[in-house]
Amino acid sequence: MATNGLNGTAQGAVNGDSKPATHRFNPHFTQAVINATGPKASPRVRQVTSSLIQHLHDFARENEITVDEWMAGLELINEAGRMSTDRRNEGQLVCDVLGFESLVDEITYKLASDATDEPTSTAILGPFWRVDAPKFQMGECIVSGIESKGDRTWMHGKVTDFRTGEPIEGVCLDVWHTAPNGLYEQQDPDQPDMNLRGRFTTGKDGKYNFYCLRPVPYPIPFDGPAGKILQALDRHPFRPAHIHFIISAPGYKPIVTQIFDRNSKYIEDDAVFAVKDSLLVDFIPITSDPKADFELPYDFRLATFEDAAKR
Ligand code: BEZ
Ligand code: FE
Repeated sequence: MATNGLNGTAQGAVNGDSKPATHRFNPHFTQAVINATGPKASPRVRQVTSSLIQHLHDFARENEITVDEWMAGLELINEAGRMSTDRRNEGQLVCDVLGFESLVDEITYKLASDATDEPTSTAILGPFWRVDAPKFQMGECIVSGIESKGDRTWMHGKVTDFRTGEPIEGVCLDVWHTAPNGLYEQQDPDQPDMNLRGRFTTGKDGKYNFYCLRPVPYPIPFDGPAGKILQALDRHPFRPAHIHFIISAPGYKPIVTQIFDRNSKYIEDDAVFAVKDSLLVDFIPITSDPKADFELPYDFRLATFEDAAKR
């Protein structure tokens, strides 16, 4: 047997755990690749990469991936790279339709908490957040250059510490959502720059309120590899109506999240698997406010860094 294991056969062989090989391929190959990692690799890189190699090799053996199939997958990855710009992250979209962003979001933010209440659930960032959204005063409106069609919404609520229930001062709520045509402003030359985006800061009472629109379901961009994957899997590209937030405050772990219109189409089959029960909201029709057709109450709960570290 060559020391790198590349010439092994599966005949009567055992793997590193002394278990009989369960496949008909070289049983020493994967361990040889893992063992090639040098002594200066960091412990985390060693752990993650060794695991990745193991799972990739197991995946290839289990499905007997051929060279042609591997090349087709590579071409999708390369095409995603070629399509990506500062306005479009196709690699992220591919991960999204495979549920990967939602999974790492869950892993990152899972808290092992002994509190009865929970911090607000997180949800994926998606590719359409923009840095430096305009700052607004409470009660202002993030809509510009769009004619209202009975979808004007007054959103309001409070941000509290999930453990103490106390209001949090100085919380930045960074909000963004699509226009009624289903497009974010950076996808749509007809919308003013930074339309339907804004940042609001809470005072002592932790309260916030602003005007926006009731969002609509929309398709994620499907003219690239993510769309090809959806098509191959006989899936649609739509997301249910939602509003995005990043909620941050000094001393608290920021949360990236979305709230979803409970009555929206696609609420049961979001193309990117981001919907969570605790993030479902109700748009309540109102007639009392001449500036709004709906009221949308929603409270956010944050965890301090200390509480968030108890995972
Ligand atoms: C979004 O909600 O903005 C989004 C999330 C994942 C993929 C595409 C769009
Ligand atoms: Fe979105």
